[in-house]
Amino acid sequence: MPVVSTLSPQLGALLHADPGEQVADLDEQMLIRLLRDSGVLVFRDFPASPEVFQSLTERFSSEFLQHGISNRPQLKEGDNYTNLANIGQFPLILHSEMSYFPVSPQLLWFYCVTPAESNGETTLCDGSELLSRMTREHVAFFRQRRLMYTYPTPEGESGFFGRFSPDDVNHRLQAESSFEYRRCPTAEIMDHLSSFYPASVAENLRPLLLSRADNFDPVVFPSMLMVKYITPAIRRTRLSEKEAFVNSAIQFFPNKRFHSLIYDETGAKLDASMMAELLELAEECTYAHPWQEGDMVMIDNTRVLHGRREFQDTRRTIQTRMSMANFD
Ligand SMILES: [Fe+2]
Repeated sequence: MPVVSTLSPQLGALLHADPGEQVADLDEQMLIRLLRDSGVLVFRDFPASPEVFQSLTERFSSEFLQHGISNRPQLKEGDNYTNLANIGQFPLILHSEMSYFPVSPQLLWFYCVTPAESNGETTLCDGSELLSRMTREHVAFFRQRRLMYTYPTPEGESGFFGRFSPDDVNHRLQAESSFEYRRCPTAEIMDHLSSFYPASVAENLRPLLLSRADNFDPVVFPSMLMVKYITPAIRRTRLSEKEAFVNSAIQFFPNKRFHSLIYDETGAKLDASMMAELLELAEECTYAHPWQEGDMVMIDNTRVLHGRREFQDTRRTIQTRMSMANFD
C-alpha cells in the first residue's frame, strides 16, 4: 500500500510508493475515491516511463483527446495521445484545460520526465475552493451571465477543432451551453467578422487576426470556422457534488494574445477589476507543485485549475495526456 498524505492544505493527495510497488498495483476504486475527495493525485517514486504513464491513463479513460493547437510536440512512441507540455518557459495563468472548447477533457494527466533545475512548478487551484471564496456579487454575476469564448480558428487538424467536426461538437454539447459557428474562406475572414460577432467583439478580433496573419495562410488553411461558444463559468464538477469556478477566463483576460477571445454572453467585456480580484483570490489558494523526476499526476479538469511558474532550464520535460473518464 502506498503512503497517502495531503498534497497541500488546499487540495490533492500524494501517493508515495512502497519499495517495489508499481502504479499498476494500486486499487482503482481507492484512487477514484481519493480523486473525488481531493481533485488531484500525485504518484511519487513509482517506477515510471512513457509506457507506464500511458497504461496508467488507460485504466481510467474511455477516450483520449488531442489538443486542438498543434504547437505541442507529439511523442512518436505510443498511441499518439501523449504530448510534450513544453511551449516556452513563460508562466501560464490558471485555467481548466480546453475549457474554451465545447469538448474538453475530464481528466488531465502529467508525467515529469525531467524537472527544471529550479522553478517551473505546475500550479494547481481547486475551483470549488475558489468559488467558496468569491464575493457574493461576483458569484451572482457569473450565475447570471455565462462566458462567451469567441475565436476564428483554421478548419481541420491545425485548429481548435482538431479531429472533431462542428457536428460532433454539437452532439456533445452540455445542456447549459450553446455553440454557434460559421465557415468562411480564410482569405475573406476580415469581411465576415462583423456579420457573425457582436460589433465590439469583431472590432477586438480584427487586430488580433492581423497580428497573427501568418497562422492563417489561406494556402495552408483554405477555410476557417468562426466560433461563439457560450458556457457557464461556474459548473458542477464531475466527481464531487460540488460546483466549481472552472474555466479559462482568468487566463484569457489578462493575456494580450487571448484578451479578445473572452466576453460575457451578451458580448460585453468582463470587468477588469473583478478579473484582477479573481486572479488574486485564485493565487491565494494556489499550490505550486515542485516536480520530482518520475512524478505522475492525475487532475480532475472539471474542478481543478492548473498553470505553470516560469523557469529557465530548457531540459524541463513534462508529458501530458487528456481524456474522458471511464468512471462516475
Ligand atoms: Fe494547460
